[in-house]
Amino acid sequence: MDQQLREAARKHLIRYGQGDVDRLYVSSRGATVRDDEGREILDFTSGQMCATLGHSHPAIVRAIQAGAEDAIHLFSGMIPQAVARLAKKLSQWLPAPLTRSMFVNTGSESNEAALRMAKMVTGGYEVIALGGSWHGVTGQAAAASFASDRRGYGPKTPGVSVIPEPYSYRCPIRHCRDDCDMSCMKVGLDLFDMGCEGAPAAIIAEPILSAGGIIVPPEGYFKKLKAEAKKRGMMLIFDEAQTAFGRIGHKFAATQLGVTPDIMSVSKTLGGGLPLAATITSEKIEEKAHEKGFSYYTSHVSDPLPALAGLAVLETVENENLIARASEMGAYLRKGLESLQQKYEAIGEVRGQGLLIGIELVKDRESRAPHLELGDVTTKRCMELGLSMNIKRRPERGAVWRIAPPLTITRAELDRGVEILDSALRDGLDELAANGAG
Ligand SMILES: Cc1ncc(COP(=O)(O)O)c(C=O)c1O
Repeated sequence: MDQQLREAARKHLIRYGQGDVDRLYVSSRGATVRDDEGREILDFTSGQMCATLGHSHPAIVRAIQAGAEDAIHLFSGMIPQAVARLAKKLSQWLPAPLTRSMFVNTGSESNEAALRMAKMVTGGYEVIALGGSWHGVTGQAAAASFASDRRGYGPKTPGVSVIPEPYSYRCPIRHCRDDCDMSCMKVGLDLFDMGCEGAPAAIIAEPILSAGGIIVPPEGYFKKLKAEAKKRGMMLIFDEAQTAFGRIGHKFAATQLGVTPDIMSVSKTLGGGLPLAATITSEKIEEKAHEKGFSYYTSHVSDPLPALAGLAVLETVENENLIARASEMGAYLRKGLESLQQKYEAIGEVRGQGLLIGIELVKDRESRAPHLELGDVTTKRCMELGLSMNIKRRPERGAVWRIAPPLTITRAELDRGVEILDSALRDGLDELAANGAG
């Protein structure tokens, strides 16, 4: 451990929303991250949800080495062979008629490009997003994000409306309990129609609202949303940052739902840990956008090296059968978590799909009052015990652990994670009881 480096991090970094710099991190392999004291930490978040193959998977390491030898970066107007190969491979994965892609760096960017394209093609500018959504930090993506972080940055892009999300555990319109009948969508769209300025462009949605608390919309929700979008001349954009390429036990949420959006945005799970994202659409929409002069010319659009990593991700998911593995390991993990739920009243709900799982922490199951303090102390305790967990914690949305380990994680690692969660919950509840805050 190098105390001076920790001090340097404290002194010279801008704090962008991360926790305290009480330790630094040195390396990561598979589902394990190592800190500067040599401690091994089990990673239940796949880094920032990106390392679906596990950290530094050999196929990604090889792709980076090959990419560094071939071409790291080119003039943005030159299309590298690697990008053509990735676009072709991706089109074979995608549901028809989505065949055209553009490769950028981050999820914020792929959503930015998706919204830009929808606006240009429709000629409108009004966008609908769901409560609890998270689409990124750049201009239009941030304007369409409602999970957090809206305050203090000045006016957002005009024209964005929010509709209540189908959060059946905490119905935002206080109408249902556990069984969403989609009144939330109706109410939201009625309000949108009332305020519509006559220039609708797009509805953007995560198929599972992740930052919002792993909210899985009810069956039929997206079929209805697509029909409602069409009725209003709006494009449907799926933000599949977290749901694409296997995590939920399917190629895409779109394939699972049987609903193909007009534009799809993929990011985190495409690059194997490298910044790689794509905005994807049909030939018809791409033609229209091109005719109207669509541009998204950035320094790193179509970069060759990350494209090779993307190809390696798709090939590895196929070769290692990771889509089926996500379902299998997801079911196994869920069983472990549900056994914890039997033991702890504080676990209000376990939900999700495949290896994207949410655990809602409550004071009691009847009132469902969010147990924010328990979320805090147990997440901290997990880290002390060697498990990295992500808590989504907001008074209005509850305290929800988002669990998304690499798809390559082993049963033994999942068992260890569940054991640590068990200890952390027991210790956390004891600590709060001792402080009179239980
Ligand atoms: C669903 C979703 N969309 C978009 C983003 C933004 O992606 P990025 O952080 O790569 O810009 C995120 C990031 O957490 C996300 O979860």
